[in-house]
Amino acid sequence: MRIILVIFTAIVLSNTVQAEPLAEGEKLYKTFCVACHGVQNGMDMSKRLAPPGVAVRMHYKTVHKDEASFVKAVTEWLDAPDESKTLMRGAIRRFNIMPKIPLSKEDAIKVATYLYRGELESPEGFDDHIKEMYGKQGMGKGRGKGRNRTKMVKEDSAKKDI
Ligand code: HEC
Repeated sequence: MRIILVIFTAIVLSNTVQAEPLAEGEKLYKTFCVACHGVQNGMDMSKRLAPPGVAVRMHYKTVHKDEASFVKAVTEWLDAPDESKTLMRGAIRRFNIMPKIPLSKEDAIKVATYLYRGELESPEGFDDHIKEMYGKQGMGKGRGKGRNRTKMVKEDSAKKDI
């Protein structure tokens, strides 16, 4: 019994330790990113200010599959958005380059971690858009959440527009 309790406590503790930066990342994302990367205006790019967060995640995950390298790439982008680093050239063409967002390095890491792991909303029509671009087997099933969508995307999708 005691052992079970110890294990249970350990699991609870480790979850809290992991959950907290993610919650902070979510707050930062909602404060500093959703104004442009949110789900408003769906996939109508003429009404959007930037590609939706799930699209950014998808492009970054096709190139940076593991969390550490994903977070590093996004953090470097946030530190100084620069065309030489882009994985979304088409988006720069369409929207112009993203302005620099004043975030500390620590906060940039938190928000990048949220972008990798958090429950991002998909804008209306995102799934259909992906199906259209990448075929039926494209990005997995289910609507609404952006999680683990990228697994089946081909490597070269990062070069495409959105
Ligand atoms: C004022 C609008 C705006 C805000 C706010 C904004 N972005 Fe962006 N972001 C853009 C635009 C436009 C693009 C597409 C053009 C580009 O890639 O520079 C973009 C692209 C990106 C990319 C892909 C960069 C590339 O080209 O490879 C990442 C990563 C990103 N944003 C992360 C974030 C994060 C994280 C936040 C919040 C801390 C954020 N953005 C806030 C407008 C914004």
